[in-house]
Amino acid sequence: MISLIIGTNRPDSNSARVARHVAELYAALGEPLHIIDIGQFPADAFAPTSYAAKPPAVVAASDAILQSRGLIVVTPEYNGSFPGALKCLIDLLPFPAAFDHRPVAFIGVSAGESGALRPVEHLQGVFGYRNSYIFPDRVFIPAIYNVLGKDGHISDAKLVARLQRQASGFLAFVKALPPAPSIDRIGVCSWSLQPASPTELLERLAGTGVRALQLHLDPLRESPGAWGNTATLCARHGIRLLSGMMTTVGEDYTTLDTIKVTGGVVPDATWDENWRNFQANARIAVDLGLKLVTLHAGFLPHDESDPTFAKLMDRIARTADLFAEHGLEISFETGQEEAPLLSHFLRKLNRANVGVNFDPANMLLYDKGDPVTALHTLAPWIRQVHLKDATRTQTPGTWGAEVVVGTGEVQWPAFMRALRDIDFRGNLCLEREAGSQRVVDLAAGRKFIAELKY
Ligand SMILES: Cc1cc2nc3c(=O)[nH]c(=O)nc-3n(C[C@H](O)[C@H](O)[C@H](O)COP(=O)(O)O)c2cc1C
Repeated sequence: MISLIIGTNRPDSNSARVARHVAELYAALGEPLHIIDIGQFPADAFAPTSYAAKPPAVVAASDAILQSRGLIVVTPEYNGSFPGALKCLIDLLPFPAAFDHRPVAFIGVSAGESGALRPVEHLQGVFGYRNSYIFPDRVFIPAIYNVLGKDGHISDAKLVARLQRQASGFLAFVKALPPAPSIDRIGVCSWSLQPASPTELLERLAGTGVRALQLHLDPLRESPGAWGNTATLCARHGIRLLSGMMTTVGEDYTTLDTIKVTGGVVPDATWDENWRNFQANARIAVDLGLKLVTLHAGFLPHDESDPTFAKLMDRIARTADLFAEHGLEISFETGQEEAPLLSHFLRKLNRANVGVNFDPANMLLYDKGDPVTALHTLAPWIRQVHLKDATRTQTPGTWGAEVVVGTGEVQWPAFMRALRDIDFRGNLCLEREAGSQRVVDLAAGRKFIAELKY
Protein backbone atom coordinates (compact mmCIF):
# COMPACT_ATOMS: atom_id res chain seq x y z
CA MET A 1 0.00 0.00 0.00
CA ILE A 2 1.08 3.57 -0.70
CA SER A 3 -0.42 6.37 1.41
CA LEU A 4 -0.91 10.01 0.49
CA ILE A 5 -1.06 12.67 3.19
CA ILE A 6 -3.07 15.81 2.43
CA GLY A 7 -0.96 18.45 4.13
CA THR A 8 -3.69 20.76 5.40
CA ASN A 9 -6.96 20.62 7.32
CA ARG A 10 -8.36 23.75 5.64
CA PRO A 11 -11.90 23.10 4.37
CA ASP A 12 -12.24 23.40 0.58
CA SER A 13 -8.49 22.95 0.19
CA ASN A 14 -7.03 22.94 -3.31
CA SER A 15 -4.26 20.62 -2.12
CA ALA A 16 -6.99 18.09 -1.32
CA ARG A 17 -8.29 18.45 -4.91
CA VAL A 18 -4.79 17.93 -6.30
CA ALA A 19 -4.38 14.92 -4.00
CA ARG A 20 -7.53 13.30 -5.38
CA HIS A 21 -6.37 13.90 -8.95
CA VAL A 22 -3.00 12.35 -8.06
CA ALA A 23 -4.80 9.34 -6.56
CA GLU A 24 -6.57 8.83 -9.90
CA LEU A 25 -3.21 8.87 -11.70
CA TYR A 26 -1.86 6.18 -9.36
CA ALA A 27 -5.05 4.11 -9.69
CA ALA A 28 -4.58 4.21 -13.47
CA LEU A 29 -1.12 2.70 -12.87
CA GLY A 30 -2.72 -0.11 -10.82
CA GLU A 31 -1.77 1.36 -7.42
CA PRO A 32 -4.81 2.77 -5.58
CA LEU A 33 -3.65 5.13 -2.84
CA HIS A 34 -4.72 5.23 0.78
CA ILE A 35 -5.53 8.88 1.50
CA ILE A 36 -4.85 10.37 4.93
CA ASP A 37 -6.92 13.54 5.07
CA ILE A 38 -6.21 15.61 8.16
CA GLY A 39 -9.18 17.75 7.19
CA GLN A 40 -11.34 14.83 8.29
CA PHE A 41 -9.72 14.53 11.73
CA PRO A 42 -11.92 15.59 14.68
CA ALA A 43 -11.13 18.97 16.20
CA ASP A 44 -9.48 17.46 19.28
CA ALA A 45 -7.05 15.28 17.28
CA PHE A 46 -4.34 17.89 17.80
CA ALA A 47 -5.18 18.67 21.43
CA PRO A 48 -2.21 18.93 23.86
CA THR A 49 -3.26 15.59 25.37
CA SER A 50 -2.75 13.86 22.00
CA TYR A 51 0.99 13.45 22.59
CA ALA A 52 0.33 11.10 25.51
CA ALA A 53 -2.90 9.42 24.40
CA LYS A 54 -3.10 9.16 20.65
CA PRO A 55 -6.62 9.87 19.34
CA PRO A 56 -8.17 7.15 17.12
CA ALA A 57 -7.74 9.25 13.93
CA VAL A 58 -4.00 9.55 14.60
CA VAL A 59 -3.72 5.83 15.47
CA ALA A 60 -5.47 4.96 12.18
CA ALA A 61 -3.14 7.25 10.21
CA SER A 62 -0.16 5.82 12.04
CA ASP A 63 -1.25 2.24 11.31
CA ALA A 64 -1.70 3.08 7.63
CA ILE A 65 1.72 4.72 7.40
CA LEU A 66 3.43 1.82 9.14
CA GLN A 67 1.85 -0.53 6.60
CA SER A 68 2.82 1.67 3.65
CA ARG A 69 5.65 0.90 1.28
CA GLY A 70 5.76 4.57 0.34
CA LEU A 71 4.29 7.97 1.20
CA ILE A 72 3.27 10.93 -0.90
CA VAL A 73 2.83 14.32 0.75
CA VAL A 74 0.80 17.01 -1.02
CA THR A 75 1.52 20.26 0.78
CA PRO A 76 0.17 23.75 0.24
CA GLU A 77 2.24 26.85 0.87
CA TYR A 78 1.21 28.73 4.00
CA ASN A 79 3.36 31.72 4.90
CA GLY A 80 6.36 30.40 3.06
CA SER A 81 6.25 26.95 4.66
CA PHE A 82 4.02 23.92 5.14
CA PRO A 83 0.92 24.09 7.40
CA GLY A 84 1.17 23.69 11.14
CA ALA A 85 -1.48 20.96 11.05
CA LEU A 86 0.83 18.81 8.95
CA LYS A 87 3.70 19.35 11.39
CA CYS A 88 1.34 18.43 14.23
CA LEU A 89 0.50 15.13 12.53
CA ILE A 90 4.19 14.42 11.86
CA ASP A 91 4.97 15.06 15.55
CA LEU A 92 2.28 12.64 16.71
CA LEU A 93 3.42 9.74 14.51
CA PRO A 94 5.69 7.07 15.97
CA PHE A 95 9.39 7.82 16.14
CA PRO A 96 11.39 6.49 14.38
CA ALA A 97 9.18 3.96 12.63
CA ALA A 98 6.78 6.23 10.76
CA PHE A 99 9.39 7.61 8.37
CA ASP A 100 12.62 5.71 8.98
CA HIS A 101 13.78 4.25 5.64
CA ARG A 102 10.34 4.86 4.14
CA PRO A 103 10.24 6.28 0.59
CA VAL A 104 8.55 9.70 0.34
CA ALA A 105 7.56 11.85 -2.66
CA PHE A 106 6.48 15.50 -2.50
CA ILE A 107 4.02 17.67 -4.40
CA GLY A 108 3.69 21.39 -3.66
CA VAL A 109 0.62 23.57 -4.28
CA SER A 110 0.49 27.35 -4.01
CA ALA A 111 -1.59 30.34 -5.02
CA GLY A 112 1.60 32.23 -5.78
CA GLU A 113 4.36 31.65 -8.30
CA SER A 114 6.69 29.45 -6.24
CA GLY A 115 4.61 26.24 -6.44
CA ALA A 116 5.37 25.66 -2.76
CA LEU A 117 9.07 25.10 -3.39
CA ARG A 118 9.91 26.33 0.11
CA PRO A 119 7.36 24.13 1.94
CA VAL A 120 8.60 21.09 0.03
CA GLU A 121 12.19 21.88 0.89
CA HIS A 122 11.25 22.42 4.53
CA LEU A 123 9.56 19.01 4.47
CA GLN A 124 12.65 17.50 2.86
CA GLY A 125 14.59 18.79 5.86
CA VAL A 126 12.17 17.14 8.29
CA PHE A 127 11.99 13.86 6.39
CA GLY A 128 15.74 13.90 5.84
CA TYR A 129 16.19 14.22 9.61
CA ARG A 130 13.87 11.23 9.98
CA ASN A 131 15.95 9.08 7.56
CA SER A 132 13.31 8.75 4.85
CA TYR A 133 14.26 7.81 1.32
CA ILE A 134 13.41 11.06 -0.45
CA PHE A 135 12.31 10.66 -4.06
CA PRO A 136 14.26 13.32 -5.96
CA ASP A 137 11.61 14.22 -8.56
CA ARG A 138 9.35 16.77 -6.87
CA VAL A 139 6.37 18.44 -8.54
CA PHE A 140 5.53 22.10 -7.90
CA ILE A 141 2.14 23.50 -8.86
CA PRO A 142 2.15 27.33 -8.88
CA ALA A 143 -0.86 29.59 -9.48
CA ILE A 144 -3.20 26.80 -8.49
CA TYR A 145 -6.30 28.96 -9.07
CA ASN A 146 -5.35 29.22 -12.77
CA VAL A 147 -4.64 25.54 -13.38
CA LEU A 148 -7.48 23.85 -11.50
CA GLY A 149 -10.56 23.13 -13.58
CA LYS A 150 -14.12 23.37 -12.26
CA ASP A 151 -14.17 19.57 -11.98
CA GLY A 152 -11.34 19.74 -9.41
CA HIS A 153 -8.81 18.33 -11.87
CA ILE A 154 -5.62 20.03 -13.02
CA SER A 155 -6.31 21.34 -16.50
CA ASP A 156 -2.72 22.07 -17.50
CA ALA A 157 -1.54 19.09 -19.61
CA LYS A 158 2.16 19.71 -18.88
CA LEU A 159 1.55 19.59 -15.12
CA VAL A 160 -0.50 16.41 -15.43
CA ALA A 161 2.30 14.80 -17.46
CA ARG A 162 4.79 15.82 -14.76
CA LEU A 163 2.59 14.25 -12.07
CA GLN A 164 2.25 11.08 -14.17
CA ARG A 165 6.03 10.85 -14.59
CA GLN A 166 6.49 11.35 -10.86
CA ALA A 167 3.93 8.61 -10.13
CA SER A 168 5.52 5.97 -12.37
CA GLY A 169 9.00 6.96 -11.19
CA PHE A 170 8.00 6.81 -7.53
CA LEU A 171 6.43 3.35 -7.96
CA ALA A 172 9.70 2.07 -9.47
CA PHE A 173 11.67 3.78 -6.66
CA VAL A 174 9.51 2.13 -3.98
CA LYS A 175 9.83 -1.27 -5.64
CA ALA A 176 13.60 -1.03 -5.80
CA LEU A 177 13.98 -0.40 -2.05
CA PRO A 178 13.69 -2.90 0.82
CA PRO A 179 10.65 -2.45 3.09
CA ALA A 180 11.18 -0.08 6.01
CA PRO A 181 12.89 -2.20 8.70
CA SER A 182 11.04 -0.33 11.37
CA ILE A 183 10.95 -1.34 15.00
CA ASP A 184 7.21 -0.69 15.00
CA ARG A 185 6.64 -3.83 13.00
CA ILE A 186 7.67 -5.43 16.28
CA GLY A 187 5.19 -6.48 18.92
CA VAL A 188 5.27 -8.59 22.06
CA CYS A 189 3.18 -11.73 22.59
CA SER A 190 0.92 -10.79 25.49
CA TRP A 191 1.08 -14.25 27.08
CA SER A 192 4.88 -13.98 27.35
CA LEU A 193 4.31 -11.24 29.95
CA GLN A 194 2.08 -13.52 32.08
CA PRO A 195 -0.23 -10.64 33.08
CA ALA A 196 -3.08 -11.09 35.55
CA SER A 197 -4.95 -8.05 34.18
CA PRO A 198 -4.88 -5.63 31.23
CA THR A 199 -3.29 -2.97 33.47
CA GLU A 200 -0.49 -5.35 34.39
CA LEU A 201 -0.11 -6.27 30.72
CA LEU A 202 0.47 -2.63 29.76
CA GLU A 203 2.78 -1.99 32.71
CA ARG A 204 4.95 -4.96 31.76
CA LEU A 205 4.83 -4.10 28.06
CA ALA A 206 6.11 -0.60 28.88
CA GLY A 207 9.19 -2.24 30.43
CA THR A 208 10.03 -3.98 27.14
CA GLY A 209 10.14 -0.74 25.14
CA VAL A 210 7.71 -2.20 22.59
CA ARG A 211 4.38 -0.51 21.84
CA ALA A 212 2.44 -3.23 20.03
CA LEU A 213 0.94 -6.57 21.03
CA GLN A 214 -0.11 -9.91 19.71
CA LEU A 215 -3.01 -10.45 22.10
CA HIS A 216 -3.98 -13.74 23.73
CA LEU A 217 -7.75 -13.88 23.12
CA ASP A 218 -8.70 -16.66 25.56
CA PRO A 219 -8.63 -14.44 28.68
CA LEU A 220 -11.02 -11.98 26.98
CA ARG A 221 -13.42 -14.85 26.26
CA GLU A 222 -13.08 -16.57 29.64
CA SER A 223 -13.10 -13.46 31.86
CA PRO A 224 -14.78 -10.59 30.03
CA GLY A 225 -15.27 -8.77 33.35
CA ALA A 226 -11.53 -8.56 33.95
CA TRP A 227 -10.33 -8.25 30.34
CA GLY A 228 -13.19 -6.47 28.55
CA ASN A 229 -11.47 -3.07 28.67
CA THR A 230 -8.20 -4.30 27.06
CA ALA A 231 -8.79 -2.60 23.70
CA THR A 232 -9.82 0.70 25.30
CA LEU A 233 -6.75 0.71 27.56
CA CYS A 234 -4.45 -0.12 24.65
CA ALA A 235 -5.94 2.68 22.53
CA ARG A 236 -5.59 5.13 25.41
CA HIS A 237 -1.89 4.27 25.72
CA GLY A 238 -1.25 4.21 21.96
CA ILE A 239 -0.55 0.47 21.99
CA ARG A 240 -1.33 -1.18 18.67
CA LEU A 241 -2.94 -4.61 18.49
CA LEU A 242 -1.21 -6.51 15.70
CA SER A 243 -3.03 -9.86 15.84
CA GLY A 244 -4.69 -12.35 18.17
CA MET A 245 -3.71 -15.80 19.43
CA MET A 246 -5.93 -18.58 20.71
CA THR A 247 -5.11 -21.88 22.31
CA THR A 248 -7.06 -25.13 22.22
CA VAL A 249 -8.48 -26.84 25.28
CA GLY A 250 -6.29 -29.28 27.22
CA GLU A 251 -2.97 -28.63 25.47
CA ASP A 252 -0.22 -30.28 27.54
CA TYR A 253 3.31 -29.17 26.68
CA THR A 254 5.03 -31.31 29.36
CA THR A 255 6.80 -33.47 26.79
CA LEU A 256 6.87 -33.91 23.02
CA ASP A 257 4.65 -36.99 23.45
CA THR A 258 2.00 -35.24 25.57
CA ILE A 259 1.67 -32.31 23.17
CA LYS A 260 1.45 -34.70 20.22
CA VAL A 261 -1.66 -36.28 21.76
CA THR A 262 -3.26 -33.16 23.27
CA GLY A 263 -2.25 -30.38 20.84
CA GLY A 264 -4.48 -28.38 18.50
CA VAL A 265 -7.74 -29.61 17.02
CA VAL A 266 -6.74 -33.29 16.95
CA PRO A 267 -8.34 -34.62 20.19
CA ASP A 268 -11.99 -35.69 19.72
CA ALA A 269 -12.87 -35.22 23.40
CA THR A 270 -12.26 -31.46 23.25
CA TRP A 271 -13.33 -30.67 19.68
CA ASP A 272 -16.87 -29.48 20.50
CA GLU A 273 -15.56 -27.14 23.18
CA ASN A 274 -12.79 -25.90 20.88
CA TRP A 275 -15.32 -25.23 18.15
CA ARG A 276 -17.49 -23.16 20.52
CA ASN A 277 -14.42 -21.24 21.67
CA PHE A 278 -13.32 -20.57 18.08
CA GLN A 279 -16.72 -19.06 17.31
CA ALA A 280 -16.50 -16.74 20.33
CA ASN A 281 -12.83 -15.90 19.58
CA ALA A 282 -13.67 -14.90 16.01
CA ARG A 283 -16.29 -12.46 17.30
CA ILE A 284 -13.81 -11.02 19.83
CA ALA A 285 -11.16 -10.61 17.12
CA VAL A 286 -13.64 -8.69 14.94
CA ASP A 287 -14.59 -6.44 17.87
CA LEU A 288 -10.90 -5.69 18.46
CA GLY A 289 -10.44 -4.79 14.79
CA LEU A 290 -7.93 -7.61 14.25
CA LYS A 291 -7.25 -9.23 10.89
CA LEU A 292 -5.24 -12.27 11.97
CA VAL A 293 -5.53 -14.95 14.68
CA THR A 294 -2.85 -17.60 15.18
CA LEU A 295 -3.08 -21.06 16.78
CA HIS A 296 -1.35 -24.41 17.04
CA ALA A 297 -3.26 -26.68 14.65
CA GLY A 298 -1.83 -29.89 16.11
CA PHE A 299 0.68 -32.44 14.87
CA LEU A 300 0.32 -33.46 11.23
CA PRO A 301 0.85 -37.15 10.54
CA HIS A 302 3.47 -37.87 7.86
CA ASP A 303 1.32 -40.54 6.30
CA GLU A 304 -1.57 -39.00 4.41
CA SER A 305 -3.60 -42.22 4.72
CA ASP A 306 -3.48 -41.84 8.52
CA PRO A 307 -7.10 -40.97 9.51
CA THR A 308 -5.76 -38.09 11.65
CA PHE A 309 -4.64 -36.32 8.47
CA ALA A 310 -8.18 -36.20 7.03
CA LYS A 311 -9.67 -35.31 10.43
CA LEU A 312 -7.23 -32.43 10.87
CA MET A 313 -7.90 -31.25 7.31
CA ASP A 314 -11.65 -31.26 7.90
CA ARG A 315 -11.50 -29.43 11.25
CA ILE A 316 -9.01 -26.85 10.01
CA ALA A 317 -11.08 -26.23 6.87
CA ARG A 318 -14.16 -25.63 9.05
CA THR A 319 -12.17 -23.30 11.30
CA ALA A 320 -10.77 -21.43 8.29
CA ASP A 321 -14.24 -20.98 6.81
CA LEU A 322 -15.63 -19.79 10.14
CA PHE A 323 -12.92 -17.11 10.36
CA ALA A 324 -13.33 -16.21 6.67
CA GLU A 325 -17.01 -15.47 7.32
CA HIS A 326 -15.77 -12.84 9.80
CA GLY A 327 -13.22 -11.44 7.33
CA LEU A 328 -10.34 -12.91 9.37
CA GLU A 329 -7.18 -14.81 8.51
CA ILE A 330 -5.83 -17.64 10.65
CA SER A 331 -2.24 -18.85 10.85
CA PHE A 332 -0.63 -21.94 12.29
CA GLU A 333 2.49 -22.02 14.36
CA THR A 334 5.35 -23.63 12.49
CA GLY A 335 7.79 -26.14 13.86
CA GLN A 336 5.75 -29.12 14.96
CA GLU A 337 6.43 -30.70 11.58
CA GLU A 338 8.95 -30.19 8.77
CA ALA A 339 8.18 -27.31 6.43
CA PRO A 340 7.60 -29.47 3.29
CA LEU A 341 4.87 -31.44 5.12
CA LEU A 342 3.17 -28.24 6.31
CA SER A 343 3.34 -26.67 2.83
CA HIS A 344 1.83 -29.87 1.36
CA PHE A 345 -1.00 -29.68 3.90
CA LEU A 346 -1.63 -25.99 3.19
CA ARG A 347 -1.67 -26.57 -0.56
CA LYS A 348 -4.23 -29.37 -0.11
CA LEU A 349 -6.27 -27.29 2.32
CA ASN A 350 -6.43 -24.55 -0.34
CA ARG A 351 -7.88 -21.75 1.79
CA ALA A 352 -6.86 -18.19 0.94
CA ASN A 353 -7.30 -17.03 4.54
CA VAL A 354 -4.94 -19.62 6.03
CA GLY A 355 -1.24 -18.99 6.47
CA VAL A 356 1.53 -19.64 8.96
CA ASN A 357 2.99 -17.80 11.90
CA PHE A 358 6.66 -18.55 11.32
CA ASP A 359 8.60 -19.31 14.49
CA PRO A 360 12.29 -20.02 13.88
CA ALA A 361 12.85 -21.24 17.44
CA ASN A 362 10.15 -23.89 17.19
CA MET A 363 12.06 -25.53 14.32
CA LEU A 364 14.96 -25.94 16.78
CA LEU A 365 12.85 -26.86 19.81
CA TYR A 366 11.04 -29.62 17.92
CA ASP A 367 14.21 -30.41 15.91
CA LYS A 368 12.39 -30.05 12.58
CA GLY A 369 15.00 -28.66 10.21
CA ASP A 370 16.79 -25.42 9.41
CA PRO A 371 14.69 -22.26 9.99
CA VAL A 372 16.06 -20.33 6.99
CA THR A 373 15.42 -23.20 4.57
CA ALA A 374 11.95 -23.66 6.08
CA LEU A 375 11.23 -19.94 5.73
CA HIS A 376 11.82 -20.14 1.98
CA THR A 377 9.62 -23.25 1.71
CA LEU A 378 6.75 -21.58 3.57
CA ALA A 379 7.25 -18.08 2.11
CA PRO A 380 3.89 -17.90 0.26
CA TRP A 381 2.00 -18.53 3.51
CA ILE A 382 3.92 -16.46 6.08
CA ARG A 383 1.56 -13.90 7.64
CA GLN A 384 3.48 -13.14 10.84
CA VAL A 385 6.80 -14.06 12.44
CA HIS A 386 7.63 -14.86 16.06
CA LEU A 387 10.98 -13.56 17.21
CA LYS A 388 12.05 -16.36 19.50
CA ASP A 389 15.34 -18.18 19.98
CA ALA A 390 16.33 -21.66 21.15
CA THR A 391 19.06 -24.23 21.31
CA ARG A 392 18.53 -27.63 19.73
CA THR A 393 18.16 -30.68 21.93
CA GLN A 394 21.11 -33.03 22.38
CA THR A 395 18.73 -35.91 23.12
CA PRO A 396 16.41 -36.86 20.25
CA GLY A 397 12.76 -36.98 21.32
CA THR A 398 13.11 -34.24 23.96
CA TRP A 399 12.69 -30.47 23.81
CA GLY A 400 15.47 -28.07 23.03
CA ALA A 401 15.77 -25.03 25.31
CA GLU A 402 14.06 -21.70 24.64
CA VAL A 403 16.44 -18.78 25.29
CA VAL A 404 16.60 -14.97 24.99
CA VAL A 405 16.52 -13.75 21.37
CA GLY A 406 20.08 -13.38 20.13
CA THR A 407 21.60 -15.94 22.53
CA GLY A 408 20.47 -19.18 20.87
CA GLU A 409 21.07 -21.02 17.61
CA VAL A 410 18.80 -19.03 15.29
CA GLN A 411 21.11 -17.45 12.72
CA TRP A 412 19.49 -14.01 13.00
CA PRO A 413 21.35 -12.09 10.26
CA ALA A 414 20.62 -14.90 7.77
CA PHE A 415 17.04 -15.16 9.02
CA MET A 416 16.37 -11.41 8.67
CA ARG A 417 18.05 -11.39 5.24
CA ALA A 418 15.76 -14.27 4.21
CA LEU A 419 12.70 -12.28 5.36
CA ARG A 420 13.91 -9.36 3.25
CA ASP A 421 14.58 -11.67 0.28
CA ILE A 422 11.02 -13.01 0.34
CA ASP A 423 9.79 -9.40 0.72
CA PHE A 424 8.03 -10.16 4.00
CA ARG A 425 6.21 -7.02 5.14
CA GLY A 426 4.22 -8.39 8.07
CA ASN A 427 4.72 -8.03 11.80
CA LEU A 428 7.38 -9.57 14.02
CA CYS A 429 6.30 -10.54 17.53
CA LEU A 430 8.78 -11.20 20.31
CA GLU A 431 7.87 -14.32 22.28
CA ARG A 432 9.41 -15.66 25.48
CA GLU A 433 8.01 -18.83 27.00
CA ALA A 434 10.60 -19.67 29.64
CA GLY A 435 12.47 -17.89 32.41
CA SER A 436 11.38 -15.72 35.30
CA GLN A 437 12.43 -12.28 34.04
CA ARG A 438 10.27 -11.96 30.98
CA VAL A 439 10.26 -8.15 30.73
CA VAL A 440 14.05 -7.93 30.89
CA ASP A 441 14.43 -10.78 28.38
CA LEU A 442 11.97 -9.30 25.91
CA ALA A 443 13.62 -5.87 26.20
CA ALA A 444 16.98 -7.54 25.46
CA GLY A 445 15.44 -9.29 22.44
CA ARG A 446 14.01 -6.03 21.16
CA LYS A 447 17.38 -4.30 21.52
CA PHE A 448 19.16 -7.18 19.79
CA ILE A 449 16.79 -7.07 16.80
CA ALA A 450 16.82 -3.26 16.58
CA GLU A 451 20.62 -3.19 16.48
CA LEU A 452 21.09 -6.24 14.27
CA LYS A 453 23.07 -5.58 11.09
CA TYR A 454 22.09 -7.83 8.19
C1 LIG B 1 -2.85 30.51 6.12
C2 LIG B 1 -2.51 30.59 4.67
C3 LIG B 1 -1.28 31.06 4.27
C4 LIG B 1 -0.94 31.13 2.91
N1 LIG B 1 0.30 31.54 2.55
C5 LIG B 1 0.68 31.51 1.25
C6 LIG B 1 2.00 31.81 0.85
O1 LIG B 1 2.86 32.11 1.65
N2 LIG B 1 2.30 31.76 -0.47
C7 LIG B 1 1.39 31.41 -1.41
O2 LIG B 1 1.72 31.37 -2.61
N3 LIG B 1 0.11 31.08 -1.05
C8 LIG B 1 -0.26 31.14 0.25
N4 LIG B 1 -1.52 30.75 0.62
C9 LIG B 1 -2.47 30.35 -0.42
C10 LIG B 1 -2.44 28.84 -0.64
O3 LIG B 1 -1.23 28.47 -1.25
C11 LIG B 1 -3.65 28.49 -1.47
O4 LIG B 1 -4.79 28.56 -0.63
C12 LIG B 1 -3.62 27.18 -2.22
O5 LIG B 1 -4.93 26.93 -2.72
C13 LIG B 1 -3.16 25.99 -1.44
O6 LIG B 1 -3.72 25.90 -0.17
P1 LIG B 1 -5.05 25.05 0.16
O7 LIG B 1 -4.73 23.62 -0.05
O8 LIG B 1 -5.38 25.39 1.57
O9 LIG B 1 -6.11 25.51 -0.81
C14 LIG B 1 -1.88 30.73 1.95
C15 LIG B 1 -3.12 30.24 2.35
C16 LIG B 1 -3.45 30.16 3.70
C17 LIG B 1 -4.77 29.60 4.11
